[in-house]
Parts: sequence; structure tokens; C-alpha cells
Amino acid sequence: PPAVLVDSFGRVATDLRISLTDRCSLRCTYCMPAEGLDWLTRTERLSDDEIVHLADVFVRLGMRSIRLTGGEPLVHGTLVSVVRRLAQLQPRPELSLTTNGISLDRKAGALVAAGLDRINVSVDTLDRKRFAELTRRDRLPEVLAGVAAAAAAGLSPLKINSVLMRDANLDEAPALLEWALRSGYELRFIEHMPLDADHIWQRGSMVTADEILQVLAAKYTLQPHGHRGHAPAEDFDVLDGPGAEHWAQQPGRVGVIASVTRPFCRDCDRLRLTADGQLRTCLFAQTETDLRGPLRAGASDAELGEIIKTAVAGKQAGHGIDNADFVQPTRTMSAIGG
Ligand code: GTP
Ligand code: 5AD
Ligand code: SF4
Repeated sequence: PPAVLVDSFGRVATDLRISLTDRCSLRCTYCMPAEGLDWLTRTERLSDDEIVHLADVFVRLGMRSIRLTGGEPLVHGTLVSVVRRLAQLQPRPELSLTTNGISLDRKAGALVAAGLDRINVSVDTLDRKRFAELTRRDRLPEVLAGVAAAAAAGLSPLKINSVLMRDANLDEAPALLEWALRSGYELRFIEHMPLDADHIWQRGSMVTADEILQVLAAKYTLQPHGHRGHAPAEDFDVLDGPGAEHWAQQPGRVGVIASVTRPFCRDCDRLRLTADGQLRTCLFAQTETDLRGPLRAGASDAELGEIIKTAVAGKQAGHGIDNADFVQPTRTMSAIGG
């Protein structure tokens, strides 16, 4: 399909992230407050028909991949059916999921059968007590069962996301990597971004990519993997270290997603659709474009396309976290979908 969604910096949007719900089964301290948030009502949320309709418009405007997010997408009762319907779009988009893994053990097989191509699961710690503190829920065994089920269902590469926090899990980075290497998963360490509901993020004390790589260097020999394309993750081949021997033919891989200290905004190919039908052209956008209103008022696909094109044209250069006038968006991580 032709590249129709181009912004004023020449970036072409090809990757759509759809948040299916703002609800979540965990309460990670770096993301949500203990009491949860003011959840969207059923009428505020897009219906499955509306999601599939908008996704079809986006795909015909050149979006090649769709990632389903939340909140927690597995909380959305009809997730499998949404995947099945998105897999029927033409041209067929690559379909992926970002999840916390809870209930994945029961659904991985059905998701693959429905057309899911890839999965990224968040695992910030392998210590049950720590997990319970970090996520405010004692559910690590369920998450690990979900990861194992996803691998058994054939989802590959299976990526693990770990947000590193100084006092919570930074010391566990090498152990997380060893576990991932031995299991054949691709681990990515993520810099904490200022999108948390409780505003605990601090530029001065956040764990940076440099620091993550320094901690890993004590046990591992890493070599930059090279070509990165549009991916947020900078990948490294693991040449040596605990678990590396598992990879006889192919080196293991680890990534760092350094959104804050090494921004990749210049190569950004993403758009986001929130569960209430708002188009966000940047994770850190201060403005959104309403698609739900026009859709429900009966706008044609051509009209919706024009609205989307105009929004994309106005996409901001980048997040500007280091600018003196940076203001955290009012919508928090869980209501955007990461
Ligand atoms: P892959 O296609 O597998 O590379 O997925 P991904 O890493 O892009 O997506 P995932 O949902 O696993 O997100 C991992 C981390 O990257 C999360 O912390 C996201 O918030 C962050 N992330 C994803 N897309 C963007 C982006 O466009 N900008 C920034 N700054 N961070 C992003
Ligand atoms: N900064 C960086 N990553 C975050 N995630 C959630 N909140 C934040 C944050 N404030 C991660 C989750 C998940 C992905 C969707 O985003 O851990 O892996
Ligand atoms: Fe794209 Fe905004 Fe993320 Fe930068 S911060 S990579 S512009 S979504």
C-alpha cells in the first residue's frame, strides 16, 4: 500500500497500537495507583465492531502491523475474537500483543489459532515476594505459566519486557537475563518513562541505559547487533556470560529500550488508538484526535481517513522529556497502552 500517513518530518506511520481496555489485573507501582483509576464505561469504550472498523481504515492507509495493548489486553473478554477479525483485514497486518501474562496460560493456544504472530510479556522480577510488592498482586506463578504457554504455543520471538527501577529490581538485571537466555526469550530492559499515575518518575534518579549496560557488563559480553530500523529497542548479541552457552548456533539477544536517554523519535513509525477511540500520534502527545465521535456520527471511511491524515501531519517531533517546559501528559501509561 502507498505511504499515505506522513508527518511534517517525513516519518511514515506503519505501526498501530490499539488499547483494548484501560483496566488491568495488576497494579505496578511504576504505572498505576493501588486503588486503580477511573475506568472507562462500556459506552465510552469502542465496541469490537468499532475497533475492527477503525483498524480496517488504518490498514488501508498503510499501517502494516497492529499491536494490541491495554491496560491489560487479556482482561478484554473477547480478545481472541478481535485477533481473529483483525487477521482477516486486507492487507493482513502483522498482529502482536503486549501483556502482563495473567491468564495467558489458558489463552495462548487460542490466540495463535486466531492469528496472533508475536507476543511481548512484562516480567520485572523473578522473585515472588518482590513481584507482589512491585505489582501489588501475588501472581508471579500465573505470569510464568503464561510465558511458558506462549512459548509452547509457538509464539516466537517471545520478548520479555523489564522496566528497571533502582530500589526495586536493578540488582536483578543479570539474573533476569540469565533466565531469559536459558529459556530462549529475548529480554528488553526498559527505561522508566514519565507516564506513571503517581508521578514517581524522576529524571535524576531513574535507571539509564548506560547504567543498565554497566550492570550487565560485570557478567556479560555484549556486542551491538547493528541495524535497528524503527524498533525502540537497541539490540545486543550476548557473546558470553551465564546462560549464553545455551545458544550454540545463534547468539542470545538482549535489548535496551532507552526512550529517555537515547530517544528514537526521529525514526518513529507509530500511532496509537486509545480504548475510547482517541488517536494519539505520540506517546507523549498533549492533544488527541477524536475518532469515536465521527465514527458514531456516521462518517465515511474516506472522511475518517482525512481526519487521520491531518492528525498525523501534525505529529510532534518527539517527547521532549529533557526540555525545560516538559509536562507529563494527563493520560497515564495504562490508558495509552505503552
Ligand atoms: P516490538 O515490535 O516487539 O519491538 O514491540 P515494542 O517493544 O515496540 O512494544 P512493547 O509494547 O513491548 O513496549 C516496550 C516498551 O517500549 C514499553 O515501555 C513501551 O512504552 C515502549 N514503547 C513502545 N513504543 C514506543 C514509542 O513509540 N515511543 C516510546 N518512547 N516508547 C515506546
Ligand atoms: N515507563 C516505561 N515503561 C512502562 N511500562 C509501563 N509503565 C511504564 C513506564 N512508566 C511498560 C510495561 C509494559 C509496556 C507496555 O510498558 O512494563 O512492558
Ligand atoms: Fe514516537 Fe513519541 Fe515515542 Fe518519540 S516518544 S518514539 S515520537 S511515540
